[in-house]
Amino acid sequence: METEKKIEQLREEINRHNYNYYVLAEPEITDEEYDSLLKELEDLEKKNPRLITPDSPTQRVGSDLTKKFNPRTHRVPMLSLSNTYNEEELYDFDRRIRDSLPSGEVIEYVAELKIDGASVSLTYRDGYLVAAATRGDGTTGEEITPNVRTIKSVPLKLRKKEIEGYLLDDIEVRGEIFMEKKAFLRLNEEREKRGEKVFANPRNSTAGTLKLQDPSIVASRPLDIFVYYLIPAEGEFISQFENLRILKEAGFKVNPWSKLCGSMDEVITFCRETESKRDEIPYDIDGVVIKVNSVKQQSILGNIARSPRWATSFKFSARKAETTINDIIWQVGRTGAVTPVAVLQPVSLSGSVISRATLHNIDEIERKDIRIGDRVVIEKGGDVIPKVTRVIDLERADRGPATTPPEKCPVCSSLLFNPEEEVGIFCENHLCPARLKGALSHFASRNAMDIEGLGEAITDLLVDRGYIKSFPDIYHLYSKKEELERIERFGEKSIGNLLVAIENSKLKPYEKVLFALGIRFVGEGVAALLAENFPSIDKLADASAEEIESVHGIGPRISESVTGFFRIGKNREMIGELKKAGLSFEAEQKADKTDSLKGKVFVLTGTLSQMTRGEAKDKILLAGGKASSSVSRNTDFVVAGEKAGSKLKKANELGVKVISEDEFLNIING
Ligand code: IVH
Repeated sequence: METEKKIEQLREEINRHNYNYYVLAEPEITDEEYDSLLKELEDLEKKNPRLITPDSPTQRVGSDLTKKFNPRTHRVPMLSLSNTYNEEELYDFDRRIRDSLPSGEVIEYVAELKIDGASVSLTYRDGYLVAAATRGDGTTGEEITPNVRTIKSVPLKLRKKEIEGYLLDDIEVRGEIFMEKKAFLRLNEEREKRGEKVFANPRNSTAGTLKLQDPSIVASRPLDIFVYYLIPAEGEFISQFENLRILKEAGFKVNPWSKLCGSMDEVITFCRETESKRDEIPYDIDGVVIKVNSVKQQSILGNIARSPRWATSFKFSARKAETTINDIIWQVGRTGAVTPVAVLQPVSLSGSVISRATLHNIDEIERKDIRIGDRVVIEKGGDVIPKVTRVIDLERADRGPATTPPEKCPVCSSLLFNPEEEVGIFCENHLCPARLKGALSHFASRNAMDIEGLGEAITDLLVDRGYIKSFPDIYHLYSKKEELERIERFGEKSIGNLLVAIENSKLKPYEKVLFALGIRFVGEGVAALLAENFPSIDKLADASAEEIESVHGIGPRISESVTGFFRIGKNREMIGELKKAGLSFEAEQKADKTDSLKGKVFVLTGTLSQMTRGEAKDKILLAGGKASSSVSRNTDFVVAGEKAGSKLKKANELGVKVISEDEFLNIING
C-alpha cells in the first residue's frame, strides 16, 4: 500500500513537472532533479511491475514495433478549411455568415494561428488517452497511438476530468503536431552528418516521423503539439474560445496567440500583425484560422462539402521578391553531389537579406530556363531555403546562354559522373577536398568513429593545410603533434585531447567503422546488417552484388554502391592503411579485445603525451587488465612517459618490462 501511494505521488509530481516544462515552458526544477524523480519511479516500478499503468510517465515509449497502422474512422469527419487570400474575401466570409444566421445575432470570431504541421485527433476516455489518429482522407485516418504517446506535451492523462461543470470523460481533441524551426534545423544537421537524407521542411519531417514504425525513434525527434478543437461526445459546450481555455486547464498545450474578435476588422488587424511577425514565430505557420466563436451558431451554419461554413483560413501571401541572377555556381556536398546554386543580387525578403537560392538540379534549371543575368522571382515558402520560382522575361533578346552542368568537379577538377536514372551529378573522387571535408565530419561524427574535437572548423583547417588527405591521415596526426600545437587556434591541450579521442576511436566496432566509411546508401542500420552478414571487411569486399542482395533488407541500390566502392583500388588501399592503424575490420575482434589483457598488471609513470593517466587507465580496464600504482614483481608492464622517475628505476631493478607510450597503445589496440 505504501509503495502504491509513493508511486502515485511520484507520477503526479512528474506529470506536473512535465506539464510545467513541455506545455508551459516554465520548469520549476532542474533537469537533474527531474531525472532523479523519474529514476526513483522507474526503480519502484521495476520492483513492482504489477503496479505499472499505461499512463505512467515511464510508459511513453512502448517497446513493440508497429507492424502496420490500423485504420481508424473518425467519429466526426476531419474537415479541411476554405481559403481566403485578401481582406475582400474575409469580408465576403463575414457577410455569408451574417446572411445565414437569424438577424440580430451577435457574432464573434476567434482568430488562431494556422500551424503548418500534421493534424491529429486524440481520443480521451475517462481522462486517459486511448487513441491518436492521423487525418487520413478526413473520414478514416491511421492509428498512430504509440508514436503520439512519445510526445511529451501530449497528456497521457488529463489534469482534470471536469472543469466548471463541463465533463471531459469522453472527448476528442484535435490539434497540429509540429517541430520548431530550430529543432528541425538541428535534426537535419545531425542527419546530414550521418549521411542520411535530410527533410525538406519541418512539416515533412513531422509527417514522416509520425509514420515511423519504431516509437523509440519517434521519441528522439523534437515533436510538439498545439491543440485547437474540442469535440465532446455529449454535453453543451458554449464557444470555441471557452473550449481553448478548458483544453488549457485540462493540461493541453494551446497556442497563446489566439484572439477573440468582435468584428471582421479586428480579425484583419490580427491577420496583418501575425503576418508581419511570421519570421519571429519559432514554428512554421501558413496563415490564420478564423472561426465563429459560438458553438450554437456553428451548428446552425453547418458544413459545405468538405469544409465547415463557420470557419475559414486566411492564407499568407507567399513571400516573393524580384532580383537578378549574378551567377550560377556548383557546390560539392559530402556525398559528392554537385548541386547548382544561384548567386543573387542581394534582396530583402520578409526581413532577411537573400543572396543565394537553391536551383536543385539541372532538370529544374532547364524546365524553368534559368540563365545568368535573368531577372527572376524568388520565393520563401514553408521551406527554409529560398527558391527561384520563375524567370520574369523569358523572351528578352539579350539573354545569356543556357546553363549547362559542369563536366569537371569545380573543386578538384575530376570528371563528374551522372548515375543512370538520376538527375544529379557526382564527384566520385574520394580525395576531393570538398568531399573529403564532408566525409571526415561524417567519419568523426558521434554515431560513427565519435572523434570529439574533429569538428567542422578543425577539419577544414587540417584539410586546407594538407595534414589530412584521406581517412588514414587522421591516425598519423600524432606524429605532427608539435607542429600542430604551434597552430594558433589549437594549443597543447586541445591537440592532446584530439589525439586521445583519435586513439579511443580505434576501439570502435567493425559496424561503426563500416558506417564511418561513408559508402553511399550505407547508413547506420545497413552497416550493422552488412557487418552481421559479412563478418570481415575482406569478405564484404569480395562479395558479389548478388551475395550482398541476398541479405534481407538490402536491395540492388545498396549492393551496387558497395561493390562499386570496393572496385576502386584507392578505397581498398585506404582500408589497408586503416587496418594498419589498428581499426576494427572484423566483427569478432571486439569480443577478443575486451579481455586480451586479462589479468595483466600495468603501472603508469611519467607524463604521457597522447592521453591523460586517467584515460590510459580506462583503456587498461577496458581491455581486461589491471592498473596498479606501485611496481612489484607482479607487475607485467611499466608504461614510462616523459620524466619517469623512481618507478622506472624500481622496474629496472626488478627486471619488470618497461614500455613506451606508443608500445602501450600497440598492445592495447591489439
Ligand atoms: S481548425 C473544422 N485550427 O489546417 C476545423 N485547423 O486546412 C478544422 N490547422 O486540417 C480545423 N492550425 O491540420 C484548425 N488553429 C487551427 C489550425 C488548423 C492548423 C490545420 C489542420 C487542418 C487544416 C485545415
